[in-house]
Amino acid sequence: MSRRVLITGGAGFIGSHTCLVLLEQGHELVVLDNFDNSSPEALRRVQELAGSTQLTLVEGDVRDASAVDKAFGSGGAVDGVIHFAGLKAVGESVGNPLLYWDVNVNGSRVLAAAMERHGCRTLVFSSTSTAYGEPETFPLREDMPTAPVHPYAQTKVAVEQMLAALCRSGPWRVASLRYFNPVGAHPSGQIGEDPMGIPNNLFPFITQVAAGRREQLRIFGQDYPTPDGTGIRDYLHVMDLAEAHGKALEHLLQQPTPYSLTLNIGTGRGLSVLEVVQGFEAATGLTIPYEVVERRPGDVPRLEACPQTAQIVLGWSARRTLEEMCRDGWAWQQANPSGYRGPT
Ligand code: NAD
Ligand code: UFG
Repeated sequence: MSRRVLITGGAGFIGSHTCLVLLEQGHELVVLDNFDNSSPEALRRVQELAGSTQLTLVEGDVRDASAVDKAFGSGGAVDGVIHFAGLKAVGESVGNPLLYWDVNVNGSRVLAAAMERHGCRTLVFSSTSTAYGEPETFPLREDMPTAPVHPYAQTKVAVEQMLAALCRSGPWRVASLRYFNPVGAHPSGQIGEDPMGIPNNLFPFITQVAAGRREQLRIFGQDYPTPDGTGIRDYLHVMDLAEAHGKALEHLLQQPTPYSLTLNIGTGRGLSVLEVVQGFEAATGLTIPYEVVERRPGDVPRLEACPQTAQIVLGWSARRTLEEMCRDGWAWQQANPSGYRGPT
């Protein structure tokens, strides 16, 4: 059944891949994005890949009630909202916590208030595995306590709590998806992750080293209590994550109200930094030079999902391999050396 879906932050890394999946499924989309960390070119390519123009763009800030109202008013009734718009850099959140509380928490509050005004109370929210803080028992299940250690994660947990409270107050249906580490790109190489400046994250850094844009990878610490001493994360292909959103939204729309759900979205298989480097080298035939440096402040030794609830409730599990994550991420980097901005 075709739905009309409002997607905030739809031009971003995860949002653009989700837009593609939803357009290919025949849904009609309204994207609200201020292009703070993305480019309209992503949405042009998404429509080209999907062979669909069922996407209306509203350029604006999710904290601006009139922009959100405009998005709701841009066509027929909205069946559900997927809320990606937000900030995600852990270090930046430590330096500027008020910005994170404003964009992530106030932005979600303004959006939820608009949803009430427009009678749409079905929402999929982008949460994070960093909600678990520095856990010691693995794999991580959704009923384990949250213990966020930096403002970024604190704002995501705050929004989860605000949404849970809304579900207790009225006929809301909410899914908070705690993403582990999404990487890779659409296999076409046409859309992908486009970090501004020096990448914070491991995968885009590796692909830029592979492309010769950076001299070598710096591995942040080899003295963690892990088998090879480097940090362990649960990396999943961004297309698997995008598909999880389609399933989560459809699941919500079939539930009676109120309904609230928190799901880990990961593979359940943690990989160390060294294993990722080796996997990338095996997938591409390239060599990634690296040096081991000090730990990065705020990093935890290990995060690894128990993805069983998503399998049971949504029938979703990550299907794509590390090789596909590396191959597709590398294809995107090669085809778009300067991301969406520069010449391709
Ligand atoms: P991204 O930065 O690529 O996408 C975010 C999008 O939101 C961008 O298009 C940006 O322009 C837009 N945006 C930012 N502030 C806005 C505002 N005030 N109003 C309107 N639009 C705004 O990030 P992403 O990796 O696609 O992440 C999407 C969501 O998932 C974020 O909320 C992020 O916190 C969350 N998340 C990401 C990861 C990850 O590793 N990428 C992990 C866990 C959770
Ligand atoms: N790492 C390096 N060198 C780098 C970059 C990263 O060694 O240049 C290491 C980190 O120390 C960590 C692992 O690679 O052990 C992964 O780091 P990322 O920065 O790629 O990912 P994080 O787990 O730190 O954080 C990411 C997003 C957050 C999100 C979180 C969980 O940046 O927004 O995943 O979803 F919340």
